[in-house]
Amino acid sequence: MKRREHYFATCAPGLEPLLHEEAKQLGLMRIERQVGGILFEGSVEDVWRANLGLRTAVRIFLRLARYEAKNSDELYRGAFEVDWTRFLKPEGTLIVDSQTRESELFHTHFIQQRVKDGVVDQFRERFGVRPSVSVDEPDLRIHVHLFRDRATLSVDTSGGSLHKRGWRAYQGRAPLAETLAAAIVLLSDWDRRSPLLDPFCGSGSIAIEAAALAAGVAPGSWRRFGFENWPGHDAAGMAALRKQLSQQVHWPKKLRILGFDSDPEQIEGARENAASAGFESRLEFELGDACQFAPRAGWNGWIVTNPPYGLRVGDVPELERVYRQFGSRLRENCQGYQLALLSGNRDLSTLLELSKPRKTELLNGGIDCMLLESRLGGEYLEPRENPRKERRKRRRQPFKRGKVGGGQGGEGRRTHGGQTSGDSNAAQS
Ligand SMILES: C[S@@+](CC[C@H](N)C(=O)[O-])C[C@H]1O[C@@H](n2cnc3c(N)ncnc32)[C@H](O)[C@@H]1O
Repeated sequence: MKRREHYFATCAPGLEPLLHEEAKQLGLMRIERQVGGILFEGSVEDVWRANLGLRTAVRIFLRLARYEAKNSDELYRGAFEVDWTRFLKPEGTLIVDSQTRESELFHTHFIQQRVKDGVVDQFRERFGVRPSVSVDEPDLRIHVHLFRDRATLSVDTSGGSLHKRGWRAYQGRAPLAETLAAAIVLLSDWDRRSPLLDPFCGSGSIAIEAAALAAGVAPGSWRRFGFENWPGHDAAGMAALRKQLSQQVHWPKKLRILGFDSDPEQIEGARENAASAGFESRLEFELGDACQFAPRAGWNGWIVTNPPYGLRVGDVPELERVYRQFGSRLRENCQGYQLALLSGNRDLSTLLELSKPRKTELLNGGIDCMLLESRLGGEYLEPRENPRKERRKRRRQPFKRGKVGGGQGGEGRRTHGGQTSGDSNAAQS
C-alpha cells in the first residue's frame, strides 16, 4: 500500500473554486477547499500528477509535521525530529520561508533561522556534514506556517512557482502569469474547438495556455520540479509518466488560435514563445490594432484578452480612446462571440460599454482586477461564485468564535507585527 500524505496546493486569491475543480478532474482524493488553495491527500505519484497537470496551482506543499511551538526551543525540536534525509543530501542546499500570525513567535527571520538550525543539526549529528543555505537555487524549499502557536512544517514539492512553466523565452512588457492566463481561459468556458482570439496578445500567454489546454499538453511538461532533486526519487517512474502524458496529446482538427498586438516587438516575442513551447505551427500572431478589430463574422468564437490598464503599459488618455473604440468594434463586429476580458482599471473598462457583464474579482501581480464576461449580442451570464467578494463580506460581519482554518496561504499573509510572508531572503547561514 502506497503511503498517502497531505498536500496543500496554493493558487492566486479568487481561483480556489477553479483549482478545486481541476483537482477533481485530475482524480485527486479528499480535496478540501481552503483560503488560498486546496488540501488533498495522495501518494507520491499523485503529487507528480498534480505538479504536471494543475494549470492554476502556484505551488504544492507536502505537509510533514504540525506541533505546538510557543517558543524557540519547541520550534527547533519539532524541526529536528522530522526525517529530512528523505528530501535532502547532507551536502545539499536549502532555504526556509515562513509566515506567522497570532503567535508568540512573530519574527519571521528568527523562525526561519531556528527551523534551519533544526534541519542542519540533524545532518551534522548523523553524518558530520551539514547542508548549506542557497537563496537562488536551493535543492529544498521548506515552509513554516505558525498560527496561534501551532507550527506546520512543509516542503515545496514544486521547487519554485508553477507559473514558471518553462516555455517563456520572451518576457514582454506586462506578461500575465501563465497560471492566471490559463485561469482566464478556463473561466471563459471556451469549448476548446472554436476559434479563440486575443486582440491585445502581448507575449502570447493567453494563446499559448489556450493551445496547451485544447491539446491536453500538461502545463508542467516543459519544466522540472523540486521533488526531482530528492534522494531516492523514482526518475524512471516520473519519465514513464511524462511519456504517457505526451502520448495523450491530441490537437483538435482545424483549431484556430490568433493573437494580435499593435507593437511589432510583442508579436515577434509571442512567436518566439510559441516556438519555445513547440506550438509555432499551431498559433497565429499578427500585427493589428484593436481599434480596428473585426474578426470573421459567423465564427462565433471566443475573445479572451487582457488589454493594458494604464499602470504598467500605456498612458491613460490614449487608452481611453483605445477602450472606447475597442468597445465599439465589439458591438459592431463581434456579435455571436463570447468575451472574457481581464481589466485592472474600472474607469477604462466602463468605456467599453458592455451590457451587464458577469464580473469575477481576481488579483494580477498585486493589482485588483476584474474578469468581465459577456455573450456579445446574447443573453446575460449568471453570476458565478466570487470567493474574494464573499470573504470581504464575511470580514465585515461581527466576529464569531468557531473553527479555526489552517490554510497555508491566503489570509495567512496578514502576519503578526506587520511582517509579511515570503521572507525567504532572510539571513540564514
Ligand atoms: C497588458 S499587455 C498584454 C499582456 C499579455 N496578456 C501577455 O501575457 O503578455 C497589453 C498589450 O496590449 C497592446 N496594445 C496596446 N494598445 C493596443 C492596440 N490599440 N491594439 C492592439 N494592441 C494594443 C500592448 O502592446 C500590450 O502588449
